[in-house]
Amino acid sequence: MAIVYQEEERTFTLHTRQTTYQMKIDNFGFLLHLYYGSRTAGNMDYLLTYYDRGFSGNPYDAGNDRTYSLDVLPLEYSTMGIGDYRNSALVVRNHDESESCDLRYAGYSIRQGKYELPGLPAVHASLQDAQTLEIMLEDRVSKVQVRLLYGVLEEADIITRSAQIINGGTDNIVVEKAASACLDFAGGAYDLISFYGRHAMERNYQRIRIAHGSHVIGSRRGTSSHQYNPAVMIAGQDTTENHGECYGMVFVYSGNFMCEAEQDQYNQTRVTMGLQNELFHYPLAPGEMFTVPETILCYSDRGFGDLSVKFHCCIREHICRGKYKDSARPVLVNSWEAAYFDFDGETILQLAKDAAELGMNMVVMDDGWFGKRVDDNSGLGDWQVNEEKLGCTLGELIRKVNDTGVKFGIWIEPEMVSEDSDLYRAHPDWALQIPGRKSVRGRNQLVLDFSRTEVRDHIYGQICSVLDQGNIEYVKWDMNRSITEVYSSGSSQGKVAYDYVLGVYDFLEKLTTAYPDILIEGCSGGGGRFDAGMLYYTPQIWCSDNTDAADRLRIQYGTSFFYPMSVIGAHVSAVPNHQTGRNISLHTRGITAMTGAFGYELSLAKLSGEEREEIKGQIRRYKEHEELIRTGNYYRLSNPFQDAYAAWMHISKDKRQILMQVVMLENHGNMTVNYVRMKELLPDLIYEETGSGRCYYGSALMNAGLPMPLELGEYPAYQFYFSARV
Ligand code: GLA
Repeated sequence: MAIVYQEEERTFTLHTRQTTYQMKIDNFGFLLHLYYGSRTAGNMDYLLTYYDRGFSGNPYDAGNDRTYSLDVLPLEYSTMGIGDYRNSALVVRNHDESESCDLRYAGYSIRQGKYELPGLPAVHASLQDAQTLEIMLEDRVSKVQVRLLYGVLEEADIITRSAQIINGGTDNIVVEKAASACLDFAGGAYDLISFYGRHAMERNYQRIRIAHGSHVIGSRRGTSSHQYNPAVMIAGQDTTENHGECYGMVFVYSGNFMCEAEQDQYNQTRVTMGLQNELFHYPLAPGEMFTVPETILCYSDRGFGDLSVKFHCCIREHICRGKYKDSARPVLVNSWEAAYFDFDGETILQLAKDAAELGMNMVVMDDGWFGKRVDDNSGLGDWQVNEEKLGCTLGELIRKVNDTGVKFGIWIEPEMVSEDSDLYRAHPDWALQIPGRKSVRGRNQLVLDFSRTEVRDHIYGQICSVLDQGNIEYVKWDMNRSITEVYSSGSSQGKVAYDYVLGVYDFLEKLTTAYPDILIEGCSGGGGRFDAGMLYYTPQIWCSDNTDAADRLRIQYGTSFFYPMSVIGAHVSAVPNHQTGRNISLHTRGITAMTGAFGYELSLAKLSGEEREEIKGQIRRYKEHEELIRTGNYYRLSNPFQDAYAAWMHISKDKRQILMQVVMLENHGNMTVNYVRMKELLPDLIYEETGSGRCYYGSALMNAGLPMPLELGEYPAYQFYFSARV
């Protein structure tokens, strides 16, 4: 049993293969957090300590006991007005404007299988693989109820949390702040690792001490954002890739979020993960319920490498869905960096012919095929094929592309509207805007109000009529600006940001149900909405608009802490690189892109004969290793922000096949040799490196490493494939 309720002790214990999570209902009915970490046994309420603490108030029911204070005790779901002055997981404004919420235990249930969340993405699992715990809490005065949801995936070492806020009273209330997870650590000192960035430079690694005060990351942009990813690690201060304890929190949501990490007056740590409280005031009428998006939790006592492998499995197996969850992705060529807006049907067809000859599986027609979309100033919202530009119907083009032997994919940006579009001229009120104010433009476009059903339905109809014109096997779903005008004529303002995201999910759910065979790749100016919420609908996401190999190594490094290789869209592009001007060799660009869902993004017609041969070889090699890259365990072997090289490896589950990839980042006169140590091999197995035919013991490769060749030039790269000798 993964979930146990001990009646006498009033403890709930969640066990996974290697971890334990424990809570207790105390004498006053408060739900206290006891422990989360390596697997333990028994009742751990001895960890709770009680002292008379000045200026830490005592609940009325504690009578004269001044040692009992919720300002000090570890809580499972913190609220306002009960004498806890640390960060709140939940703030509710009652009908009388007070913000007190005194949640006491009101019941529980345990069931086989994993809970689902209405309208929201969430971890899914088969009935055997998961259990659900629901704990009901209630404020006896306001009748606000909170249903805490816990999903336990025992084998996967995953615990998920969500919360549902129910207005059980007779007056309206407003949810002002809501997190799905609150983790209290009574002892210890921790670091917070988060991933910050900007357009074309996403998910840089940042490690800071969790110090007194609050450190807050999040998004107010309407999407999860390029600037902060909704996923963090909390780690012991000596934790590394290979050693030490660490926790991961991944928010399964694609909109505004907030993660707060706080060290309190007694050096205790609290980290909450949930919705952004700015631009959010969610009204609940009597009987209504609000669901907070899910947070995935995982713990490892074996460093970040092990934690990442667990999150990769969870996202690959229990977030991604559909036909492509477990299958090879097509090697594609995308028209964007090949031609930008400057293409016609012939250009696409030529791309397809070249793609077929080089061994690629698909051509993707990116932005520019619809409406009056001559550049990025017009046309969004008019999803009618520009047959004049293509020189034929879409159906004809797709047939010709398919005749060359490759599949056809297309780009869309359904959430947007250009002011210069027929849609905007007909329905200016469909864009998110505030009456009386001029809207902020982003890429000269406005955002459609996806919180409104009629807006979504109209766009959905248009998109379907495009998809029905031929054999479209891939869609790139883009979203190219941040939201500014959080205002809808259709609803209460505090709901708009959340309802918008649920609108996007609703659209995607309908689309994936109607077209289950289409592979959808998410995108938001590259990786501006790279989160577990989107991955529930789109099993891969374009990682970044930056295709420069040297930068991409770092972006993919940051991305790899939580997200598996199968979901990371990675392409080889032309040099000089369009984002940085660097001239990195085709070989190195190939190795860099082979870390994810591999493809190309350049004019194939301009390639030399030599480059064509090299690309054929790359595609052959990628296809040889594709399964290992997609399903194997991935380990980082260096930190490209600090080390002289970027190195990583993919190892099969049985540990008999390994692909190690290395890109040298620094070269100096009379250069020193770098030794790359591998991980998780079987020490007594002999591995043969196929390139050289040399054999090594696993223990040697792990403990001494492999010396990297010294080669002149910039960013030389190496790929080593090892297989275990029988
Ligand atoms: C975004 C995407 C690019 C490309 C363009 C098209 O920037 O990230 O890959 O699709 O839009 O406008």
